[in-house]
Amino acid sequence: MALSAYLAEETCAVASRRGAGVVMDNVSRTYPASAGPAAGVFGICAQLAAGSFVTVSGPSGSGKSTLLNLVAALDHPTGGRLLVDGRDIAASPERARAEYRLRLVGCLFQDAPLVGELSVANNVVLPGLLARTDRRAARGRAQELLERVGLGTQTTLFPAQLSVGQRQRAALARALMNRPRLLLADEPTGNLDRATGRQVMELLADAQAEGCTVVVVTHDPEIAAAGDQHLRLLDGHLVA
Ligand SMILES: Nc1ncnc2c1ncn2[C@@H]1O[C@H](COP(=O)(O)OP(=O)(O)OP(=O)(O)O)[C@@H](O)[C@H]1O
Ligand SMILES: [Mg+2]
Repeated sequence: MALSAYLAEETCAVASRRGAGVVMDNVSRTYPASAGPAAGVFGICAQLAAGSFVTVSGPSGSGKSTLLNLVAALDHPTGGRLLVDGRDIAASPERARAEYRLRLVGCLFQDAPLVGELSVANNVVLPGLLARTDRRAARGRAQELLERVGLGTQTTLFPAQLSVGQRQRAALARALMNRPRLLLADEPTGNLDRATGRQVMELLADAQAEGCTVVVVTHDPEIAAAGDQHLRLLDGHLVA
């Protein structure tokens, strides 16, 4: 089935959300280096089970964000195949990839950019409106999510008026807006104190409990060991 037809079917079946399974079949993304060895990720083979909690770790520059960008369909592999529920997302037309990013994947990236001109509530509502969710329902869900991340009373503020940790939590609420089947979080606790970091991890665990497949990049060995599966990268290669 074409990815676009699959997505149309998925949109109708929102009530029965389940996690997406990911297969990395010899996936590479190489960046040509002007001097020295090429950078990126090389020949990654891994299967992420639907509904599992996967942790990714490795030193700075080892390829963690590169790998997440590929799964998020923000970038194309230069080799191998990346299948999500058996569908090759890299081989799909850009429109289907945009739909995939909007409806199936929730992303929480390292710099967690929010739209500075929009209030916190409108930042969270935005993906819902883009997915043509009824405006009132989208607003209700945004409020509920912001309460869950502890920002229920800060919804009218603008991103510049929030702390780094609060912005991170608002970005998590936005990532959850369209009830993703795959949640990708790149060092979501990197800039947070221990207590706030724990809250964010609890929210990710809640997403998994609701059926979502969760992939988290972390430098915290405790978090890395707590997943159902742990991928360790070294110089772009999978070592565990
Ligand atoms: N757009 C790009 N052009 C060229 N090289 C890149 C590009 N993006 C990443 N790289 C290189 O690919 C390698 C992996 O980068 P990546 O951002 O995936 O690392 P990371 O493991 O996420 O590191 P960190 O923990 O610091 O976030 C690095 O050597 C980096 O310089
Ligand atoms: Mg990174």
